[in-house]
Amino acid sequence: MKFHNIKGLKGEVTVPGDKSISHRAVMFGALSEGKTEITNFLQGADCLSTIGCFRRLGIDIENQENTVTIWGKGLDGLSAPSGTLDAGNSGTTTRLISGILAAQPFTTTLTGDSSIQKRPMKRIIEPLSMMGARIESLNGNGCAPLQINGSPLHGIHYHSEVASAQVKSAILLAGLYAEGETAVTEPVLSRNHSELMLRTFGANIRSEGTTAVISPRPRLTGQKIRVPGDISSAAYFIAAGLLVPGSDILIRNVGINPTRAGILKAAKAMGGHVSLLNENREGEPTADLHVVYRPLHGTVIEGDMIPTLIDELPIIAVMAAAASGTTIIRNAAELKVKESNRIDVMVRNLSAMGCSITGTEDGMIIEGKGSSELPLTGAVIDSFADHRIAMSFAVASLIAEGETTIRGSECVSISYPDFYSDLLSLTK
Ligand code: S3P
Repeated sequence: MKFHNIKGLKGEVTVPGDKSISHRAVMFGALSEGKTEITNFLQGADCLSTIGCFRRLGIDIENQENTVTIWGKGLDGLSAPSGTLDAGNSGTTTRLISGILAAQPFTTTLTGDSSIQKRPMKRIIEPLSMMGARIESLNGNGCAPLQINGSPLHGIHYHSEVASAQVKSAILLAGLYAEGETAVTEPVLSRNHSELMLRTFGANIRSEGTTAVISPRPRLTGQKIRVPGDISSAAYFIAAGLLVPGSDILIRNVGINPTRAGILKAAKAMGGHVSLLNENREGEPTADLHVVYRPLHGTVIEGDMIPTLIDELPIIAVMAAAASGTTIIRNAAELKVKESNRIDVMVRNLSAMGCSITGTEDGMIIEGKGSSELPLTGAVIDSFADHRIAMSFAVASLIAEGETTIRGSECVSISYPDFYSDLLSLTK
């Protein structure tokens, strides 16, 4: 994919459905009794992997024109798959489904692509084992492929070292089947979509600060779920609107759950202008985002804010590269274990575009180029098959002098198949 710089983004865009919420709607629908209908479902490869896994577990799922219909069979309705389950590139599928499979009366082997086979699974194997699960990393490296021998589980109170919604959700899903209550405390609150949606489906779950507690064996019933637009996808347009001089854009129907909306705070802290219109606070809150170009300045991004913008840190680093002054990102060591090592990859690619950036143990220090209209230099960028890297550098190319080539640009299909055409539509 080649991009040339563009002057002023104008118009409206509607981003696809939220990835985290789409995954959960399929999983919880499968474990519920009766029909679940999911509208505005994300047709990205990751969410299709979740559908594929549940079909293999015996659940009827229809997927037509962004509406997914699931005929759930209740908590005990899954059946043993023949052969290995494939989670593709999806960490959410792998970790959340492990919590469910740990309690089934059958054995499953679960794997994914080469990236998934390098991502840490010890973080779920450990707490699930404490609940009585028997999970083996078949290559002995704490990663997939995993052999999950379903067993009777008992509740625990787990204190997680990482603020990870995937870890929290895996434990809470196992807790649906455990004897006694299951609690998870995290160091900082991570996205709470599982807690909110499990409650909608009928689970007895409560949240107190950074602790979530679930009671076992609820009767979950099918629901109608409308998935809001994904703020992690909207982030690329927020950044593009703030970075390209003359821009004025509207991003429709974006999920602004506070556990996800850190990008809005970061943009504000950098002097950006994003206003919320048509706010709807029922269930998962949504709003239209109006973004107008503003010169940005550096900031510090750290602490409790990190889980609320963890997937947006690559694009925030691009914003920082064009801002005036220094931006420091810290407490974000999790970036090293995402679809790629996002600290290393951002340092390598932003350096190639002429930005002064240093990787640290838990983040990055970026010296912004401030004043110029085209602060970066076009370069050949490797996406490292990481969708968020490809999209970040498509935006970076808009403020780069000369041509940028993104190798492996097709990986955007993981979370945003129409990303390039939607971005181009704002340039016309
Ligand atoms: C996700 C949680 C986050 C996030 C990922 C999706 C989820 O991962 O980075 O893209 O849907 O629960 P961690 O839980 O590993 O932080």
